[in-house]
Amino acid sequence: MKKSLFNQYKKFLPITHKTPEVTLGEGFTPLVKSRNLSNKFNCEMYFKLEGCNPSSSFKDRGMFMAVSKAIENKKQKIICASTGNTSASAAAYGARYNLETFVIIPAGKIALGKLLQAMAYGAKIISIDGNFDQALKAVREISDNLGLEIVNSINPYRLEGQMTGAFEISDELDGAPDFQFMPVGNAGNISSYFKGYKKYMDAKKISKLPKLIGIQAENSAPLVDNKIIDSPSTLASAIRIGNPASSKLAKDAISVTGGKFIKVSDDEIINAQSILAKEEGLFCEPASAASLAGFFKYAESEDDYKGKTLTFILTGNGLKDPEVAKKYLSSKIIKTSSKIKDIAESIQNGKSKSFIRRFF
Ligand code: F0G
Repeated sequence: MKKSLFNQYKKFLPITHKTPEVTLGEGFTPLVKSRNLSNKFNCEMYFKLEGCNPSSSFKDRGMFMAVSKAIENKKQKIICASTGNTSASAAAYGARYNLETFVIIPAGKIALGKLLQAMAYGAKIISIDGNFDQALKAVREISDNLGLEIVNSINPYRLEGQMTGAFEISDELDGAPDFQFMPVGNAGNISSYFKGYKKYMDAKKISKLPKLIGIQAENSAPLVDNKIIDSPSTLASAIRIGNPASSKLAKDAISVTGGKFIKVSDDEIINAQSILAKEEGLFCEPASAASLAGFFKYAESEDDYKGKTLTFILTGNGLKDPEVAKKYLSSKIIKTSSKIKDIAESIQNGKSKSFIRRFF
């Protein structure tokens, strides 16, 4: 492996000569310039494809650092509560570095792909009759006594590792973007990006902070509504969180950068997910698409983004949530015989003598 985040950004991370290098090839994800949407909105839009990380979400940026420190501190067991992606990431790194991995998930509430990942990597999965916030509360209460290292974003090393997203964007754009739109659940990632951009400012690598715009789902929007939500709901399961652990840091990020929190409906999320796939060739999971849905909402009332550079953090791969994709994004399949004539006719007519039906 040529590059690793561990080596590339060592001087900005809590790495000492005692810290072992942990890597699964995370980071250095593509920053893809929009071809179609930028023209419509008169700005430069870039999508950071965090689904290209080893476990297919941004969590790996924090996990490599948290696991490095866990090993440095002689921990043998790790634990997390999760809406799915943290558990997949923890399970992957746990497997590779021989750490026993426990994941606490809300029963029936995590996307199928993420559950299968945790299973495939061999994590011990505990499914509770409750939501993410309750799972995280349990993790906080039991881990010390059981000798478990928490690898949720309340572990400060997770936030440190996730700063690398801000470093990469700044390095690639030769400066910070003017705006950054990103989904907010437990509020760790927006806090990390804020820390990362600030660190790069201090190091004089960038000369401004981007306005950070944090997007939440309508019925899971504690930071927009400014109150804890006891029973959060949204089809974007990754951000179905009612009491974000890093609320304070996230609020600082918004106020210092002059950004804001925005909430979007499930319909708006699906619309954005579909546009990203069909107009930009980018298939991300619903929570990730919330970033673009938030921009659409922002653009209804503001125009200060015009002529500016905007980044969107597409936090996870669309394949992680096949059920949502199946329900809302699937399209017609033209079914025909194997005869060349019928196939050609299907191509020309868009339908065959047989029938058209939805794939699923
Ligand atoms: N996007 C995706 C795909 C996520 O999985 C998450 C969080 C977020 C956005 C929000 O990031 O919590 O740092 O504000 N997923 C966590 C999990 C909670 O357990 O996988 P955040």
